Amino acid sequence: MTTAVIASPSELAIKTDGLTKRFGRQTVVDDLALSVPRGSVFGFLGPNGSGKTTTIRMLLGLAQASAGDISVLGERMPQRLGGVLPRVGALIEGPGFYPFLSGSANLHRLDSADGFAPRGTRSERVAHALDRVGLSHAADKKVRAYSLGMKQRLGIANALLAPRDLIVLDEPTNGLDPQGTREVRSLIRSLADEGTTVFVSSHLLAEIEQMCTHAAVMRAGRLVAQGTLDELRSAGATRVSITTPDVEAATRVLLALGLDPGLPDATGPVAASVAGAASAGQPGTILSAALPEAVAPEDIVAKLVADGVRVRGFSVDHASLEDLFVALTGEGFDVVQ
Ligand SMILES: Nc1ncnc2c1ncn2[C@@H]1O[C@H](COP(=O)(O)OP(=O)(O)O)[C@@H](O)[C@H]1O
Ligand SMILES: [Mg+2]
Repeated sequence: MTTAVIASPSELAIKTDGLTKRFGRQTVVDDLALSVPRGSVFGFLGPNGSGKTTTIRMLLGLAQASAGDISVLGERMPQRLGGVLPRVGALIEGPGFYPFLSGSANLHRLDSADGFAPRGTRSERVAHALDRVGLSHAADKKVRAYSLGMKQRLGIANALLAPRDLIVLDEPTNGLDPQGTREVRSLIRSLADEGTTVFVSSHLLAEIEQMCTHAAVMRAGRLVAQGTLDELRSAGATRVSITTPDVEAATRVLLALGLDPGLPDATGPVAASVAGAASAGQPGTILSAALPEAVAPEDIVAKLVADGVRVRGFSVDHASLEDLFVALTGEGFDVVQ
């Protein structure tokens, strides 16, 4: 599902270095170094207020950076705005539509306001964009009668009025019900299947996990993690849990191997194995420790057995992305279906 990060600058759809935005004394984007590979579906994840929209506005030349460099599709921004913007479609913070105009009329209006869009092909492009987002049947309906999901898809249609190399979507599923969310998610996947790079922000981890190949995590204006989803997952801690009646001997073995065992707390990630052990009627205590990279789980078992420790249960658990993000951002993330 994931592709390797390709580091060559020409292979990057978006690259920022030292990107910073201050509002007065407040730094809301701080020294940001983003690398978004071409062809990726890149999730830009962070709690509300972490600086996502501000970053996106700078990427598109809608806000001026206080410091730093931006390149989009290999061109410097905002210096090369005129060359870059026609290749980029964007949806930022809910588009403004006229409720008394139809979906089609709104797109015509927005396209005519776009100085880069050729007029001769407008009707054709509007019809094609509406088709792409599954709104052809509602093209002549007034936007006032659209559901939230339809409005959001119309916003994405606006981003698709011309063939694009990069689509930037700021919280495209915000306010959508599960059905609308699924529709937007599958639309994003189909864009990616055609080779368009998609940069999509969200404060919902589950959403990023379901549709992205890569992600960057923001916390209070700073980048706290970036990479393929697999890389992010493997950055999370791995823990081993041992169920044994021989607590002291097991503790000695773990300490000798460089692990720092403790009894799992009832709410931690290993709480499930505590419950599991209890319900299975296994006597014994569960010891749990972070697994250092240099230690192989099978060596722990071998040493425990060699030292006469009776092992009733042994498990290796990778932290979920959720655990990692909660640790990185200090926040829980909402869950979507
Ligand atoms: N025009 C502005 N003037 C002052 N502060 C702003 C402005 N725009 C955004 N901010 C502040 O910048 C921070 C980041 O906001 P934003 O980029 O919208 O975050 P996100 O999109 O991740 O929710 C917030 O604290 C917000 O209040
Ligand atoms: Mg935002």
